[in-house]
Amino acid sequence: MDPDELRQQWFDLSGPWIEEARIGRNPTRTGLLDPAMLSLCGNVSGLRVLDCGCGEGRLCRIMVERGAGFALGVDSCPPMIEAARELQTNRDEYRVADAQDLSFLRPSTFDLALSCLNHCDLPEYEANIREVFRVLRPGGRFLVANLHPMRSASGMWQRDESGVKQHVIVDDYFDETERQWRMMGVDFTNFHRSLESQVNAFLGVGFRLERLMEPTITTDLAEAYPELADERRVPNFIVYAWLKP
Ligand SMILES: C[S@@+](CC[C@H](N)C(=O)[O-])C[C@H]1O[C@@H](n2cnc3c(N)ncnc32)[C@H](O)[C@@H]1O
Repeated sequence: MDPDELRQQWFDLSGPWIEEARIGRNPTRTGLLDPAMLSLCGNVSGLRVLDCGCGEGRLCRIMVERGAGFALGVDSCPPMIEAARELQTNRDEYRVADAQDLSFLRPSTFDLALSCLNHCDLPEYEANIREVFRVLRPGGRFLVANLHPMRSASGMWQRDESGVKQHVIVDDYFDETERQWRMMGVDFTNFHRSLESQVNAFLGVGFRLERLMEPTITTDLAEAYPELADERRVPNFIVYAWLKP
C-alpha cells in the first residue's frame, strides 16, 4: 500500500484522535492497555525511553511523570507531533519520523522502548523491530501492545436483530493482508499478522520473550468500565515484553 496514502489516513484521523486523547474517555486505553503496559514498565526512574508511534505523546508524558530521565516520541504524523510538543517538558522530545527507519538514532542509546498500537499500522513492522533492537542497550526492553491476532484477523461483533452481541467470527487468519476499518468517521488500514509471525519476527532479531499478556477487564476495574464487560469474551489486544540480551 502507498505510504503516502497510509500517512494521509492518520493525518485525517489526527484531529478527532487528539481531541479524544485530551478531553475524551478512552476505556480501552485506561482500562486495558495502560495497566498492562505500565505494570510491565516497572520503575522507569532515570531511564531513556523511546516511544514508537507516540501519537500526541501521552505515553512519553506518563514516562516523564514517573521519573524517566528522557523520553523521545517518534510519529510519522506531523499534527500528532505538534500536539505532543504543546505539552512538552524539558525531559521529553518529539520528532516526525517513520518508526520503520530510526537511522537518525545511535545504537545502544535507550533503556526502554515502547510501541502502543503502532505495529498494526506498519507495512514493514519487522523493520521497526530491527531498528529498536539496534538502538536499545543490552539489557534494554521493548514493550509492544498490538491488536490481538485473533481480533485483527476478524471482523466486528456479529449482532442479533435487536443489536445484542453474539460473537466475533475469526476468518482468513493465515491471510496476512491489510484490513480496512472505520474509526472516528475515517477509513483506515491495519495490517494483520498471525501470532506465529509476530513472535518469530522478534525472536529472529535476537529478542528474548520475558512476558506475554492478553489484557482483559479485571474485577477491580469492572465497575469503573462497564462498557468493557465483553472484553472477557473476545481478546482485543496482546502485549509483549521483549528483552535485548
Ligand atoms: C493507534 S495510534 C497510537 C498512538 C499512541 N501510541 C497511543 O497509545 O496513544 C498509532 C500512531 O502510529 C502512528 N504511525 C502510523 N504509521 C507510522 C509510521 N510508519 N511511523 C511512525 N508512526 C506511525 C500514527 O500517526 C498514530 O499516531
